Formats: sequence, C-alpha cells, structure tokens
Amino acid sequence: MGIYNDFIIPHVINIVMRAPMAKSERPGVVGSARGKVLEIGMGPGFNLPFYGPDVSQVLAVEPSKILINKALQRAKKLGINLSIAGHDAMEMDIEDNSIDTIVVTWVLCSIPEPEKAISEMLRVLKPDGRLLFIEHGLADVPTTAKWQNRLNRPWRCCAGGCNINRKPDDLLEKGGFIFEKLEKGFADGPKLLSFEYKGVARPN
Ligand SMILES: C[S@@+](CC[C@H](N)C(=O)[O-])C[C@H]1O[C@@H](n2cnc3c(N)ncnc32)[C@H](O)[C@@H]1O
Repeated sequence: MGIYNDFIIPHVINIVMRAPMAKSERPGVVGSARGKVLEIGMGPGFNLPFYGPDVSQVLAVEPSKILINKALQRAKKLGINLSIAGHDAMEMDIEDNSIDTIVVTWVLCSIPEPEKAISEMLRVLKPDGRLLFIEHGLADVPTTAKWQNRLNRPWRCCAGGCNINRKPDDLLEKGGFIFEKLEKGFADGPKLLSFEYKGVARPN
C-alpha cells in the first residue's frame, strides 16, 4: 500500500467527501436506515449525523485506521455507539442474516472485488433487510462512458483504487439484489466522476 494510499488518500477522502453535493444527498438515502445498521466503507463518518431514532446500533467496516479514528471521534460527539466490525467488505466476520440495513455511499468503486463484497452483504443482511446506496459509475452517455473507460486505469492508480467505469446497478443485480428504488443521472461535479446510482435494494 505505502504512504500514499495509507496516509495521503485518507486525508484526501476526509476533504473531498465533505463536498456540498455529497452532503446534500446523504440525508435522503441514509435517513431511512433502521435497526441494526452496517455501514460499509464508513470513511470519516459523514453519514453518522443522518441516522435517525429508528437506528438501534451502528457497525462499520473500514480499512483505513486514520478514517476509523475520525469516524469514532465523530460518533462520540454525536452520542452514537459505533462498533468497528472489520476492515474489508470482501470478508466480513459478521453473522449471517443479522443486519437490518446496510449503508454504502461512494464505496463500491474502490473495493478491489466488488462481487465478493456484494455476496458478503447479501449473506449478512436479513431477508427483509435493505441496502441503501449512493454510488458513482459508468455514465449512460456514450461520449462520457468512452472517456471513463479510457481513463479508468490511470485514475485508479492516483485515486486510491477508485474506478470510474463500474456499473453498480448491474453488480448489485448480478449479486442477488433487486431494486425498490433506483435513480441514475449526473450530479454536480466533473462528468467523469459524477454519474450517480442511488436508491434502495433488497435481497431478491
Ligand atoms: C470515497 S470513500 C467514501 C467514504 C464514505 N462512505 C462517505 O460517504 O464519505 C471510499 C471508502 O471506501 C473504503 N474502502 C476501500 N476499500 C474497502 C474495502 N475493501 N472494504 C471496505 N471499505 C473499503 C475506503 O477506505 C473509503 O473510506
């Protein structure tokens, strides 16, 4: 990994993920979390303020120690009892069928094998549980998609493993989820990074 991915990238995430666009989108998706919540790739914990009274417990899976510490500090300030349940969504030490809500915001792009992580999400989620997501990925506009495919590899090298040409909707569907709600479209920001997929999915 090295100093760049272990030290610089977490600090960049802590700045970039404060963007007003991200802040404005979080409550609409995360606000419907309920019960025992597992947040995958929690980062510095920017979703924490939007968990409401229906949330009984929050678990996080996050690889970066720097970001875990920031999330724990934020949770303490908000009076949320946050437990760190692991460091890699591709292999989670969490019981089968034990989670009511999984939250994943701008994370599937960075997980080396998203199929493995999605299979783990399906395993730990209760049959009536829900996955709340906001992701970015391949645009449905051919000219943008062409440049996303061309630039994906160099981008991934500089951006801590973030891919700009994944299709989170296809990944989730192939992984055994169906959508209760799915919105797709450009948010504010550079076209290559801002084609969003957001909504609610549940086990099929
Ligand atoms: C762009 S940040 C998003 C952070 C946060 N979800 C947010 O909305 O601000 C991507 C996050 O995914 C995390 N991540 C990367 N690989 C992961 C993995 N294998 N398992 C879980 N999280 C991972 C990163 O450490 C980082 O915190």
